[in-house]
Amino acid sequence: MFDFFQYKNNELFCEDANVSEIIGAENTPAYIYSKNSILQHYTEIRDAFAEARPLICFSVKANSNLTILKILADAGAGFDVVSGGELFRVLKIGVPPDKIVFAGVGKTSEEIRYALENNIFMFDVESEAELLNIDTIANSLNKRAGVALRINPDIDAKTHAKTTTGKKENKFGIDFETTEKIIKEIETYKNIDLKGIHVHLGSPIYDPEPYVLALKKVNDLLQRLIQSRKMQGFEYLNIGGGYCISYTGEAVKRPADFARDIIPITKKFNAKLIMEPGRFIVGNSGILVSKVTYLKSSTGGKKHVICDAAMNDLIRPSLYDAFHRIWPVHTSVSMPEIELPDKKPDTDGELELVDIVGPVCESSDVLAKDRWFPLVKEGELIAVFSSGAYGFTMSSNYNSRPRACELLVDGRTVSTIRRRETYEDLIAIEKEG
Ligand code: LLP
Repeated sequence: MFDFFQYKNNELFCEDANVSEIIGAENTPAYIYSKNSILQHYTEIRDAFAEARPLICFSVKANSNLTILKILADAGAGFDVVSGGELFRVLKIGVPPDKIVFAGVGKTSEEIRYALENNIFMFDVESEAELLNIDTIANSLNKRAGVALRINPDIDAKTHAKTTTGKKENKFGIDFETTEKIIKEIETYKNIDLKGIHVHLGSPIYDPEPYVLALKKVNDLLQRLIQSRKMQGFEYLNIGGGYCISYTGEAVKRPADFARDIIPITKKFNAKLIMEPGRFIVGNSGILVSKVTYLKSSTGGKKHVICDAAMNDLIRPSLYDAFHRIWPVHTSVSMPEIELPDKKPDTDGELELVDIVGPVCESSDVLAKDRWFPLVKEGELIAVFSSGAYGFTMSSNYNSRPRACELLVDGRTVSTIRRRETYEDLIAIEKEG
């Protein structure tokens, strides 16, 4: 699971680099990514779906560090962006525009213009109003806009309520009736090239079934329209992202398992495939390293391990009650293969029940609640695993905390790919009085 993060002689390594030594030079909190893990996960999903020859558009929101985007671009990836800022990042590293797709329910006119001026491949359109706006802006620029209609298939992806997107009450995508109406009226949008259909159900998804159910529903609609000669078919089918990773160490389905069930249904569309994985590629390719600042035991109450990483560094536990494994960087207690929420793991050394918390002034600033944890001392380093996706990208300066640095390991080589912010950075764009 954490193949590129392993303990050797009681010390955590990222690839061939000793995490304590890396931190000795850089301090905490720090995100550490494994370059070869990123590449291996990209290759795994690409190879699993190879038969369908998809364009794999890495979902930039999962991790938008320029160096990481460049690694993936060099490996052949395209990119899924959802804002002008993300588009700016991928253009900055020289990604060919015909490998960029742009999703999101609220693209502003400025963002649409910026994307059209840079000739991106297509927009994943999420409403009639947006389609009309893209058409109008394309007309004013004398350009043609490639679009895919993002359909909301009203399917339960069986994931966290805050990260499901394909139910009809969610803000994402266009319902079937409106999709049909748009397709029938497509000639009225003079500067639009309708290139494809897009479906994204939510994230993380642990089973191929929701994808298959959603694609069947979409295919039924399209076949009906094709048979009644309302349309001819589409060149591209974008099946979005959502492919799960293991946060606990338990085996979860891998891209090959998803491909086995998804590819047959995608063949019915007779279209080229686009995919938008984010979490699968970077999630288990990164850790967040923190230092224990204080230990605090309340009489008759809980023991708190107070560390220097907080909800502003990794918000997933606070926001979604997400489970991230945490273990000391240097420890004689073996990290168990599997660790489940609320269960004492099976391991050789002594464990105690603690809350691992940050210094932010919110009770929800918790990285782990009621966690069985090896006995640690103040000053010790701890690693929060599976933090490579939606970790740094969701971080903030709350409580005026400078954001962590990001470090990349390739074999033994460590490079700083984003320096730690300073107090001066915090105020650099503010006015004093
Ligand atoms: N495509 C679209 C249109 C999306 O909205 C997303 C994620 C993806 C692709 C990539 O999904 P992935 O392969 O990474 O699962 N902050 C949450 C996850 C939010 C996902 C938002 N959209 C978390 O930390 O779990």
